[in-house]
Amino acid sequence: MKDLSHTSFQTRAVHAGERVPPADYTPVTSPIWPTVGYLYESMDDLDAVFAHSKPGQVYLRYSNPTVEAFETAIANLEGAEAAQAYGSGMAAIHAALLGAGVKAGTSVVAALDVYGATYTLLNNLFAGMDVNVRMVDVTNHDEVESAIKEMGATVLFVESISNPLLKVADIPVLAERAHRHGASLLVDSTFASPYLVNPLAHGADFAIHSATKYLSGHGDVLAGVIATSRENKNKLFETNKLVGAVLGPFEAWLALRGLKTLPLRMKQQCESALQVAKWLQSQRRVKKVNYPGLTDHPQHTLAKRLFEEKGYGGVLSFEIKGADKAGVFRFMESLKICLPATTLGDVYSLVLHPATSSHRSLTAEERARVGISDGLVRLSVGIESVDDILSDLETALAKG
Ligand SMILES: Cc1ncc(COP(=O)(O)O)c(C=O)c1O
Repeated sequence: MKDLSHTSFQTRAVHAGERVPPADYTPVTSPIWPTVGYLYESMDDLDAVFAHSKPGQVYLRYSNPTVEAFETAIANLEGAEAAQAYGSGMAAIHAALLGAGVKAGTSVVAALDVYGATYTLLNNLFAGMDVNVRMVDVTNHDEVESAIKEMGATVLFVESISNPLLKVADIPVLAERAHRHGASLLVDSTFASPYLVNPLAHGADFAIHSATKYLSGHGDVLAGVIATSRENKNKLFETNKLVGAVLGPFEAWLALRGLKTLPLRMKQQCESALQVAKWLQSQRRVKKVNYPGLTDHPQHTLAKRLFEEKGYGGVLSFEIKGADKAGVFRFMESLKICLPATTLGDVYSLVLHPATSSHRSLTAEERARVGISDGLVRLSVGIESVDDILSDLETALAKG
């Protein structure tokens, strides 16, 4: 800090207390660094930082120490060389597609059953920019491979556990089939989180998360992140310096704090979700339950192997017998503990009607093709007492 003793009150109000040199002690938790710019006593040092020949920070759109702490933690938990954070999960998905080489004239093969905004990003925004997009049943590996081969696809995009139908992607097989034809495998692993699976260890090239969900876990931050190789990270970093889809330091700090309890929350949520799924299956008002932990789920054996018996995630979906949109709305309004809110992966139990929210941007025909009916409800199981969740569902089912 420069000497302010001969300056006016007005000048001291601006500069006093600022730019104290780093202290010789280490805080236990990563501090929040809300600064946009950095002061260098030597302009040569700043020049060297810009040139990447000296480590350092220059500008908040480039990088930030709190965001870097979050990226380091994600890279560690995903077993990746590096990670790049974004202001939302959708920003991360968009960046990963571009980073993997998607541009006009290229092709993308994607799972039919993906988050609605991802579906629309591919089929409206990217398709509108001359990218060829084909949506396939990701559990049919021959269909996936022929689509990649026929189209000469640059990217295969899947969700490790799909939203909202809970299909499980066989990441090792899909990675092998994609690589055989020169395509990269991008895995949105939001539902599984690194607690259940590390997609890169199974051959994926990019593991993407909406960190808004399980990673942060408390419903108070919007964030996204990509775990990948150092080479890919460098490309993503350079692009994001231009695009500016950055995560802010306050959000990064919240996400980093959330991460600390990820294993505890996921363990509880996996156990409770399995119990809720089994209970729902026994209910006469419930037509069908989608949950990979159920033994009759088509990818149950795969899920057991891929997730190493740690659990099957905290989200499930189910259809209420004979219920149309109005019937589902009545059911959702009758719930007292499970909150009808448009998100998932929080400590709170949350219900959502995919047809009118997460998958609203799809046409009715597209939803029918994916398999999302008006009677489908998505439930993200929180960390409340499972008995309270069950009794809430029981009361609302009786009313709905
Ligand atoms: C599987 C999945 N991926 C990506 C996203 C987008 O994340 P965000 O809302 O953080 O942009 C969502 C949001 O619900 C999601 O469910």
